[in-house]
Amino acid sequence: MAEHKEHLSTVVTYYDTHPINEEQILRALQARQVDMTSLTEEVLKDHDQDHFGGLQANDVLAAKAGIRKDHHVLDVCSGMGGPARYLAHRIGCKVTGIDFTESRYHSAIKLTAMVGLEGLVDFVHGNALEMPFPDNRFDVVIGQEAWCHVPDKPRLIAECARVVKPGGVIAFTDILRTDKLSKPDMRRLRSEMTFPDLETLNGYAKLLEKSGCTLLEHDDLSEIWKRVLEDRLAMYRSLGKETERHFGAERSREWDDAYAFFVSKYRDGKLGGGRFIARRDRAPAQADDSKGA
Ligand SMILES: C[S@@+](CC[C@H](N)C(=O)[O-])C[C@H]1O[C@@H](n2cnc3c(N)ncnc32)[C@H](O)[C@@H]1O
Repeated sequence: MAEHKEHLSTVVTYYDTHPINEEQILRALQARQVDMTSLTEEVLKDHDQDHFGGLQANDVLAAKAGIRKDHHVLDVCSGMGGPARYLAHRIGCKVTGIDFTESRYHSAIKLTAMVGLEGLVDFVHGNALEMPFPDNRFDVVIGQEAWCHVPDKPRLIAECARVVKPGGVIAFTDILRTDKLSKPDMRRLRSEMTFPDLETLNGYAKLLEKSGCTLLEHDDLSEIWKRVLEDRLAMYRSLGKETERHFGAERSREWDDAYAFFVSKYRDGKLGGGRFIARRDRAPAQADDSKGA
């Protein structure tokens, strides 16, 4: 997608130099003296989630989406595949992940093979805005704290609605802006966090409805995330030395500045979070022509 090429390459650089990465996960496992030749998902699951609220957030999303063993789930912007592996392991469903950052895609495949879940979980390298899947393919589409990086949210939601089966569910959480966020703050988030723009709680609700979905729930997670993000900032700071060794002092400092700024916007109510559960309608919404009759 030519018009978004430049933005996509900044996202790739951001994730290629992210403090949470395959090497960092493997080092954390080694520090726990885990035998890598018999690594299991029960152990890996505590190290490979890159969203807010960890495993519990996966459980809540899966329960609200009604994910079952006979479902095929698509994780849009799946990163290193933590949620995909977790859902397949816990529920027994099939999960496909799609991610644009090649290093994330390769790590997802490697970690999945290490825990022997490749029979249930697979990954595709691709762009969420033009997914290489046929219409009506998946029972459930999920996403967690990733769609904030994707430009053109109407197209993103329309793509998700296209690939989910009629009657299927789109369930996701995402970073949102509130109406207090200023343009200079948004510009800084764009350049430092690679968020091209951010949706609002009502904005996503409208996009889902416009894309032929019935909104079942939309929950404001802003207050909960205020606390979650303070803990996340502390976690990234605890990885500071490792980030410095891996990507250099400049990137480590840059990350800290960017993340501290991001978290401060939660503190002052300029950023928020939301969870959305929507069912794709069985038939496209009909224009109401009875009024003219
Ligand atoms: C915060 S990570 C989320 C990973 C995953 N949801 C998890 O919880 O572990 C965001 C991911 O979105 C991916 N991403 C961003 N823009 C994308 C796009 N346009 N298409 C596909 N993937 C994208 C990034 O490469 C990154 O791996």
